[in-house]
Amino acid sequence: MSKVISFINLKGGVGKTTLLVATAEILAKEYNKKVLVIDLDPQTNATVMLVSQESWKEANRNNRTLHQLFLDEVEGTEAFNIEKSIMKNVSNINNGIENLDLLPSSIDLIDIHDEVSGLNVKNRVVKILKKQIASLENRYDYILVDCPPNLGAVTMSGIYLSNYYIVPVIPDTLSTYGLTQVIKKIDMKAREIKRFDEKYDIKPLGIIVNRYRDNKPYNTIASTLEVKSYNGEIPKLFQTRIGIKSQFSNISDIEKDKSTIRQKYGQEFSVLNNLVNEIIGRCK
Ligand SMILES: Nc1ncnc2c1ncn2[C@@H]1O[C@H](COP(=O)(O)OP(=O)(O)O)[C@@H](O)[C@H]1O
Ligand SMILES: [Mg+2]
Repeated sequence: MSKVISFINLKGGVGKTTLLVATAEILAKEYNKKVLVIDLDPQTNATVMLVSQESWKEANRNNRTLHQLFLDEVEGTEAFNIEKSIMKNVSNINNGIENLDLLPSSIDLIDIHDEVSGLNVKNRVVKILKKQIASLENRYDYILVDCPPNLGAVTMSGIYLSNYYIVPVIPDTLSTYGLTQVIKKIDMKAREIKRFDEKYDIKPLGIIVNRYRDNKPYNTIASTLEVKSYNGEIPKLFQTRIGIKSQFSNISDIEKDKSTIRQKYGQEFSVLNNLVNEIIGRCK
């Protein structure tokens, strides 16, 4: 059975997509795991970090993105084909990483988002993606879901797939304040799902401190998080903290081919690798 992990936070810009893509690439390339990235965010950041604009446009033209899945619900059609929509061997490392696949998103999802949400009577929309993914469960070791910063019906369809979730945070006051809210809300939503599917269970895998700097207020806030986590107020923090590094703004450029994962992530590779190690360990 695949381990399905959602990367989520109600705040944007905290590193969900960046850390998800790095985790996916490292799992596939360094650990030889079969990995599927599901991009649920209409901003399509994960998609365009893993495939060229051109490939994405072609997929979008041919209705081979998650937009079609949700559009089918609106229009009562069945045009979405998961096998055809999965893009194989994605990433700009070594012309694509064997074992790394992508179910792409589309900016067109924005146009139908409200309509889709309106259809979510009896969690109809929440159940859509899980039905599709059922046939893939044994094909992948890990499925990583990139969630938009909300807990709407589309996001919930990803949460319903997931056994685990990871919350990246920036150790600033606002993010820290929002953190308990995120956890509470996911917990509440999970209980809603349990009401129609008693087998459902999702656990927090941990909180990633991202964009860390070893000075005030970042280090004091990170320590506060450690204490809260120790007291059980918030889930466990990952021991690996990700520093604020300019390397991360360069990696999003898919058009620049990289020959190895170490070349792509430079000095940050070992830190990211430690994080992935922890993720694997916690999934057991
Ligand atoms: N550790 C980091 N150091 C420097 N920049 C980062 C770091 N993590 C993320 N970023 C940058 O911050 C921006 C937002 O990150 P992103 O992963 O898109 O966040 P989210 O998916 O939560 O909205 C991106 O431009 C990304 O390159
Ligand atoms: Mg994102």
